[in-house]
Amino acid sequence: MSLKEKINIAKLPKHIAIIMDGNGRWAKQQGEDRIFGHEHGVKSVRACVEAAAEVGVKYLTIYTFSTENWNRPQEEVIAIMQLLVHTISGEVESLHKNGVRLQAIGDLDSLPKDCVEELQMGIERTKDNTRLTLVLALSYSSRWEITNAVQKIAKQIENKTLSANSINEQTINAALCTADMPEPELMIRTSGEHRISNFLLWQLAYAELYFTDKLWPDFGKEELYEAILDYQNRERRFGKTSEQLIS
Ligand code: IPE
Ligand code: IPE
Ligand code: MG
Repeated sequence: MSLKEKINIAKLPKHIAIIMDGNGRWAKQQGEDRIFGHEHGVKSVRACVEAAAEVGVKYLTIYTFSTENWNRPQEEVIAIMQLLVHTISGEVESLHKNGVRLQAIGDLDSLPKDCVEELQMGIERTKDNTRLTLVLALSYSSRWEITNAVQKIAKQIENKTLSANSINEQTINAALCTADMPEPELMIRTSGEHRISNFLLWQLAYAELYFTDKLWPDFGKEELYEAILDYQNRERRFGKTSEQLIS
């Protein structure tokens, strides 16, 4: 039986979040420069989008560029932004044909103009698709997002549309970039690093974390299926005991 056939469709995570990591090390192993790794990383994104859509995952969020990544050497930042523009413009039609809706979270105003324009066109073109939502986290970090959310809530209090006592989890959820999305049940990080790197800190509160040594350009459909199967073998207790879950 193939890995894909082993997946229990009834227990599928609705939302998978991925920290794609290891492009630079992968390139170094090939004796190439870092951007070569990023270029090859695009193939892995394509493979994961296809695999997620094929099994019926509804949301796939990919950490594409973090707030902290602006501190990389300028030539790498520029090359990543150019790669983003080309990739989005080259992929939108195929995403659309496959029923994929494109969305983005992060400080999009900080991205180069051509990048934002390409992104907005892609988002608009695919907005009615319902098979899979692909969310690119761009110029994103969780602390940026939470700071932003606190400002939004504070403004509502300031103009008296909200009282401090009525703030609850829903208020906070609604102020985040992910307001309309389900929480990720599975978070995957490649390249052997075991950290969250400022990604979806609030939303990952109860996600199952999956780490693999594979470098991102080596991560494909089979690897995604493997991660889903691993997730399906976990017991998600949400604070309860095992016995409570059985009864
Ligand atoms: C992930 O690969 C891609 C981005 C962060 C844009 P890296 O570029 O972080 O690769 P390593 O971690 O240096 O190998
Ligand atoms: C996290 O990867 C950001 C993205 C995948 C876009 P990094 O490679 O930048 O993370 P750290 O800094 O090593 O934790
Ligand atoms: Mg890295």
